Amino acid sequence: MEKRELLYSGKAKSVYSTDNPDTMVLEFRNDTSAFDGKKVEQLDRKGMVNNKFNAFIMTKLEEAGIPTHFESLLSDTESAVKRLDMIPLECVVRNVSAGSLCRRLGVDEGIDLDPPTFELFLKNDALGDPMVNEYHARSFGWAEEAHIEIMKKLTFQVNQVLKKMFDDGGLILVDYKLEFGLYKGEVVLGDEFSPDGCRLWDKETREKLDKDRFRQGLGNVIEGYEEVGRRIGVQF
Ligand code: TMP
Ligand code: ASP
Repeated sequence: MEKRELLYSGKAKSVYSTDNPDTMVLEFRNDTSAFDGKKVEQLDRKGMVNNKFNAFIMTKLEEAGIPTHFESLLSDTESAVKRLDMIPLECVVRNVSAGSLCRRLGVDEGIDLDPPTFELFLKNDALGDPMVNEYHARSFGWAEEAHIEIMKKLTFQVNQVLKKMFDDGGLILVDYKLEFGLYKGEVVLGDEFSPDGCRLWDKETREKLDKDRFRQGLGNVIEGYEEVGRRIGVQF
């Protein structure tokens, strides 16, 4: 596959066109960003770790019947993916309270949420990714009702698959964010699944092993990601 022009460069990944109009190359960079791009650092090995982590998870999700954009690993830091028309929403499922939920509702971190809760955010750094509801999404034309229903269903299906996988590795999947797009009219999981976009705690000690290590300046950020990968069987 031939990498052609740079189409888009986000906070942590760059997207390239290829000789196939339906396929793109995702390049995972070492850039690490938090707080809507207000804190940015380069972390050694991050591009490689997230690329391989994402490939592992996307493959497991495909095996479970969830359509994803992932096609193949191309190199340590690059993967081939289907070209999607992205829906500008972030779908978040929370199994345990943390992060913005605690700030917004004034609740403690670490409360088990039964049933798990679902939130939508508008992808807009300038506005700080505000939380929106399904009616906003429909009224402004960000996504149509049928597609929102599918995104919600798929996001909860991902929870079934990954909660179990991480639990088997001694980890709690606290929450995670997914992004979807349309491929030939079908809703397909896009973007990435890595410790950049989810929260994972050790089941026994509740140690944070995800991007909160970076957000909160706890150190050993990539070591945390590698520990998670090792426990679920990712080959780095
Ligand atoms: P939050 O607690 O900051 O709302 O985040 C919930 C989960 O979604 C957490 O695992 C981090 C992830 N997330 C992102 O990856 N990118 C984002 O822009 C946002 C808002 C959340
Ligand atoms: N990924 C987003 C950012 O760069 C949000 C976050 O993870 O805190 O700011």
